[in-house]
Amino acid sequence: MLKIKVSNLKPGAKLGKDLYSYDSQLLLPRGTVVTDEHLNSLAARNISEVYINETTARPRSEKPFPEVYQHSLHVVRSFMLEAKLGKPLEMEEIVQTTDILFNQVFDENDLFRQMRLMKDKDDYLFTHSVNVAMLSILIGRWLKCDEKTIKELGTAGLLHDLGKVFIKDEILNKPGKLTEDEFNEIKKHPKIGYQLAIENPEVNYDIANAILLHHERADGSGYPMGNKGYNAHFHAAVVAVADVYDAITSTRSYSTRSSPYVAAEILWQESFGRLDPRITKVFYDKIANFYIGNEVLLSNNEVGVVIFVDPAQPTRPIVRVQDKFYNLLLERNIQIIEIID
Ligand SMILES: [Fe+2]
Ligand SMILES: [Fe+2]
Repeated sequence: MLKIKVSNLKPGAKLGKDLYSYDSQLLLPRGTVVTDEHLNSLAARNISEVYINETTARPRSEKPFPEVYQHSLHVVRSFMLEAKLGKPLEMEEIVQTTDILFNQVFDENDLFRQMRLMKDKDDYLFTHSVNVAMLSILIGRWLKCDEKTIKELGTAGLLHDLGKVFIKDEILNKPGKLTEDEFNEIKKHPKIGYQLAIENPEVNYDIANAILLHHERADGSGYPMGNKGYNAHFHAAVVAVADVYDAITSTRSYSTRSSPYVAAEILWQESFGRLDPRITKVFYDKIANFYIGNEVLLSNNEVGVVIFVDPAQPTRPIVRVQDKFYNLLLERNIQIIEIID
């Protein structure tokens, strides 16, 4: 048995002893498998330590986030540049990187904060691939997938835009709208990446399909196939949502970055007929917990603090600006445009 701090407790750990409140009420019996909801209620009750079965304790990655991020970035940069030089894909380092990310990505509050700090500091294609890998792992955890599936999602995220190294930089980084010919060039990247990936027998069917199908949309407006209907490939559907989310929240050469609130609203709109609502919904629901207490910049240029999030309308919280309260549910013309760290 192991005594650990609640701040280090992870969902999936099994309680080794009955857990009592300060007024001696039984809160959770021995053997309870800890869930996210339990973690929230323990924090709310100021419970600081619990006993768990050692075998169920998932150790938090020891490495600091920037180190893990830089390492992942380095790995993505090398496999992409080597692919460009015509070298076959080597999976060993990529799979190891996924394992490291798997052990890093548990807590969305931490991940989103860290990702905001890391963004915009490096080449978009590489940071985007790392971000999509981490977001895909996070979505896999939210959907309670098994470990193998979550790791495949991470690897698929790292590899999903591999084909883009063969698209000319002037098209990839073009500020402003693409011409039809340029967009047709961009549309080639899923197939190019897929072809490269399947040459390696270690890349399984689900990962390869995520590379090929991450731009398909249910209304048939996607590419390369333009298939109608929700993506039958789970991995591709997850990577598609992670991909859209990261694109919206990153500064791109042709757009400015939007806050996670705006991103969640766009994702929600995209759910109707385009992205898979089973996956966008989990994103939308989770955003309720993201930023309570965070300082935010509103579209009317005022700075306030998020003080209440209605789970039914998570992207429209109540924001306090000094002694005023904005209920964004009612004030539809005001948006949160930036989270301030
Ligand atoms: Fe892509
Ligand atoms: Fe992408």
